[in-house]
Amino acid sequence: MIKKAVIPAAGFGTRMLPFTKAVPKEMITLVDRPAIDYAIDEAVAAGIDEIILITSKSKNLIEDYYDRYYELENALEKSGKTELLSEVVGLAEKCKIVSVRQKEQLGLGHAVYCAADLVGDEPFAVILPDDLFLSKKPVLAQLKEAYEKVKSPVLAIQEVPESETSKYGIVDIKNNTEVNLFGLKSMVEKPKENPPSNYAIVGRYILTPDILKELGNTGSGALGEIQLTDAINRVAKSGEVFGLVYEGKRFDCGSKQGYLEAVVNFTMAREDLRDDFLNVIKKIKM
Ligand code: G1P
Repeated sequence: MIKKAVIPAAGFGTRMLPFTKAVPKEMITLVDRPAIDYAIDEAVAAGIDEIILITSKSKNLIEDYYDRYYELENALEKSGKTELLSEVVGLAEKCKIVSVRQKEQLGLGHAVYCAADLVGDEPFAVILPDDLFLSKKPVLAQLKEAYEKVKSPVLAIQEVPESETSKYGIVDIKNNTEVNLFGLKSMVEKPKENPPSNYAIVGRYILTPDILKELGNTGSGALGEIQLTDAINRVAKSGEVFGLVYEGKRFDCGSKQGYLEAVVNFTMAREDLRDDFLNVIKKIKM
């Protein structure tokens, strides 16, 4: 059973400066909730009951968001706003959330390794909260189903244009286990040339404890950072790792364009807002 999910949220969010100078990028608003809340809901929908947040200095707003706020709760109760009250209280009750500070920004692999003691000796999920998805079945639940079949690490993958392969971890496919589920030979982080395929790793992983052990011995790789992809690659070479071409649409909320696309699509997915929002868009004159 996969019960724990690690969510790295320690980065500076430079692609979204100046906003991220004072507000964690994970707290950027999508409709009426911070982006990270969608990632946490995805985890809860996949049966996760403990989130391990990897944070850094000036990320306290994330923890505040999931904490109780008694003054606000009393005010909402007094004014009879019971629906809002249960929504606000519900945030603190979604699941257990613990946090660990990453004291130096040494890369994604290092961030995940900061959770090693809390994860312990069990399989776990990793969610990169920049990547958000709209899908019929939550993407993490799709990965979990695949993991239950293969009992080995499973990474969410998708095809990307060849011109973009240098922005991602790119996998080398060994064989087709079933439709959409591939055995992986190896993978490389941000290949500058000769990418092994155009299938990119995208923000959702089910990993096993041997990958944490590998991370402890992984030196710096692409961009001079300790890369999660490098540790998974070593495990793929001696054992089995799979890539799942997930069903759904992905939004890279760490970039301006991806974020704006997410705002439009997440708003259109809301029945209470869709029609009014469409009217606003239709009135735009170019
Ligand atoms: C990270 C991972 C990379 C993956 C990407 C997906 O890179 O290191 O393997 O393809 O997320 O979003 P980052 O975008 O943090 O540079």
